[in-house]
Amino acid sequence: MRPPLQPTRALSRALSSHAYNPPAPQRRGPPGPPGGGPPNAAAGPSTPAPAPPNPATTTSPSLPPEQRRLLEEIVRVDHAGELGANWIYRGQKWASQLRGDRETASQVEAMWDNERHHLNTLTRVAAQHRVRPTALYPAWQVLAWGLGAGTALLGKEAAMACTEAVETVIGEHYDDQLRALKPVLAENAAKAQPDASLPLLAEILEEFRDDELAHLDTAVEEGALRAPAHSLLSAVVGAACHIGIAVAKKV
Ligand SMILES: [Fe+2]
Ligand SMILES: [Fe+2]
Repeated sequence: MRPPLQPTRALSRALSSHAYNPPAPQRRGPPGPPGGGPPNAAAGPSTPAPAPPNPATTTSPSLPPEQRRLLEEIVRVDHAGELGANWIYRGQKWASQLRGDRETASQVEAMWDNERHHLNTLTRVAAQHRVRPTALYPAWQVLAWGLGAGTALLGKEAAMACTEAVETVIGEHYDDQLRALKPVLAENAAKAQPDASLPLLAEILEEFRDDELAHLDTAVEEGALRAPAHSLLSAVVGAACHIGIAVAKKV
């Protein structure tokens, strides 16, 4: 049985994915001469020095073909998964609003906001590692939106059961990827000049897994288990996610 998620876990540590969204540098006033006195007007207004590029977010490692394939599969399928999650929540919010259920719509919006951040980050990771996105992009959007809207039209519990099933599969999927990456990370760490992007990728997968498990907890707390035909709904949605993952790895 999965241990309960610490509610502050994701908040209490520096979020690795924020490496892709660094805060804007602080503007400083013009420098004064050493020892005080009026600022040097001839120097003109100072502009903040651009931060040097972070190799962890701007480089991609040179890997043997098998490891490269693994890296591409991980990035492509996760990007596709986060795209799907965004459209599921979009569909759920639309249907919840249509039913006049503003409370569920705002709970869905909070989780959707998290998924936007996941998708933005993975879009940057995909560009960094030159991984092409899934070719099934448009189909993905329609299917995911339909899944979200269809379940949320059935009611709040069905929407939450959909979220529970999706996030269970996605949480396990991130765990599988972290296991698969372990030997690659160990090999990289033993190099004289280890690549910085691989450990960052692993930290992001861990962070996103924790976020997905927090969504799973929310769905259960909000009544997923009381959904009509819960077992059937879970089985169908879970199977759809497994098929989607298998397809997105390759296409
Ligand atoms: Fe996500
Ligand atoms: Fe999620």
